[in-house]
Amino acid sequence: MPLLRKGTDDRRRIHFMKQDWKPGTMIYPLPAVLVSCGSCEEDYTLFTVSWTGTICTTPPMCYISVRPERHSYSIIKKEMEFVINLTTRSMAFATDWCGVRSGRDYNKFKEMKLTPGKARVVKAPIVQESPLSIECKVKSIIKLGSHDMFLAEVVNVKADEQYMNVETGKFELNHSCPLVYLHGAYYNLGSQIGTFGWSVRKKKREK
Ligand SMILES: Cc1cc2nc3c(=O)[nH]c(=O)nc-3n(C[C@H](O)[C@H](O)[C@H](O)COP(=O)(O)O)c2cc1C
Repeated sequence: MPLLRKGTDDRRRIHFMKQDWKPGTMIYPLPAVLVSCGSCEEDYTLFTVSWTGTICTTPPMCYISVRPERHSYSIIKKEMEFVINLTTRSMAFATDWCGVRSGRDYNKFKEMKLTPGKARVVKAPIVQESPLSIECKVKSIIKLGSHDMFLAEVVNVKADEQYMNVETGKFELNHSCPLVYLHGAYYNLGSQIGTFGWSVRKKKREK
């Protein structure tokens, strides 16, 4: 009998019972970001994206994968730039709404009472309510199948000062209650478990 309790990752389990599933998109958790685009105020729009991530440190590069039928797709393809706005608990409703309604039918900034702001490098707007807005210039578009992948270089990052710890100089993104997307549902993060490299760091000798 497996000892694993429901909802835990208890390592004491002795039997592993696995199922084979058909190939699918099962890498979770992911962020659910708001991607904003458009070069003038009348065209400003945004939509929700989870197929996104970092792909290179130097130069800083990332991707978004977008279905060609999206209203935002043609805008990004024309302007070759967009902004990835990270989302928070208080942006959760807007994040979901912008992922099920099209900019063809709504002015999403107005409907969701989100504030477009000026980016530093790109013409696309930032979302002022976002803790971090990542300005991107498209380098190439890769046709994959259902989605096209926009490979982009990060040309500027706008960070909200309210998350800046003035004493340590650290940007405390965790204080923004980042929104997490996991297999069809939205969550917040749990508690911190460690920091980068803590597993191999030497413990201070006790005196
Ligand atoms: C959580 C979530 C994640 C999504 N991720 C993507 C994605 O990665 N790529 C994509 O093309 N559409 C994605 N969508 C769907 C689009 O956001 C949705 O079709 C939206 O209405 C498109 O807006 P537009 O027509 O104004 O461009 C996602 C939707 C949700 C709710």
